[in-house]
Amino acid sequence: MPSVSNRLRITRPDDWHLHLRDGDALAHTVAWSAAQFARAVVMPNLKPAVVDTEQALQYRQRVLAARPRGSDFQPLMTLYLTDRTPASEISRARASGAVFGVKLYPAGATTNSDSGVTDLRHVRPVLEAMQREDMPLLVHGEVTDPEVDVFDREAVFIDRVLQPLRRDFPALRIVLEHITTADAVDYVLSCPQRSARGTPLLGATITAHHLLYSRNAMFRGGLRPHYYCLPVLKRERHRARLLQAACSADGRFFLGTDSAPHARAAKESDCGCAGCLTALHALELYASAFEQAGCLHCLEGFASHFGADFYGLPRNQGHVELLRQPWVVPARLEYPDGGIVPLDAGASLAWRVDPGAGLSQQA
Ligand code: DOR
Ligand code: ZN
Repeated sequence: MPSVSNRLRITRPDDWHLHLRDGDALAHTVAWSAAQFARAVVMPNLKPAVVDTEQALQYRQRVLAARPRGSDFQPLMTLYLTDRTPASEISRARASGAVFGVKLYPAGATTNSDSGVTDLRHVRPVLEAMQREDMPLLVHGEVTDPEVDVFDREAVFIDRVLQPLRRDFPALRIVLEHITTADAVDYVLSCPQRSARGTPLLGATITAHHLLYSRNAMFRGGLRPHYYCLPVLKRERHRARLLQAACSADGRFFLGTDSAPHARAAKESDCGCAGCLTALHALELYASAFEQAGCLHCLEGFASHFGADFYGLPRNQGHVELLRQPWVVPARLEYPDGGIVPLDAGASLAWRVDPGAGLSQQA
């Protein structure tokens, strides 16, 4: 039996930002996430995008149908905000009981964001309805202005878009997704406002790859497409600040993998797609980052408590166990269109989720 320090037992975690894709990919993506997480907020940037409640409910059924036998994994659906989303869609979404947020992609900011919002002025009635119904707005926080350096797009978004948005909709619940900069950490910390329920009004998800890597990882000995994601990895000082925020036990920062699978050929290309596949080994990657910071004891709050509290959902009942049991991340996994390469392929990770635990709330 491993000794106590070689095991870490935490409440079953949730992933508050995940790309599951669709079609044949679901058999793979759903199995990876269901092995680690009880629930996941599922991004709507499919082709075509999931723009209304009916489509979200149908997508949810496809995800549920792809669950491994015995899994109780719950997908929490989102809608893709467009310039043409009607305000009335928000009450339909709320009434469905299956939609937990609306995703703002600035048009052109990232993968499948072409039908995103071109100007927030076009969606003011929708934002008013969301504020009224307490429907969270999940934000891809980057400007698309080609004049702005790609490494500055998040910081400029906070100044140009997020601050005015929060001023105009002070009671709107917002998640700044996959934050990558010290600027974003500071901005979240500068907004202590809480809802009537006492939960934060502004929160942020942080990915494992942004906690583990600076932009150097993209250029280590050559160009490394599997470390390319959006928002792009930043300088080391930003990574250090994100890790500090994740380990601060502040309920405004919580886990969102942004695991974003693209087949190997689509990544290793002359115009490679953005996105890192981390769902396979998400908890192991987060555990490495928290251990580096000497803060493994803070992993549970970040991974299993704070997101549920933010969304006003019950914390999970079951547990998962991580074992200190070094293993090598596979070089390639089965996936449509010729396989896929996970983050840190071929590297050794110190922690491993006990595969025997965590498939149900009873675990
Ligand atoms: O790296 C990313 N990949 N960032 C995003 O915002 C989208 C995602 C995807 O869907 O591939
Ligand atoms: Zn994403």
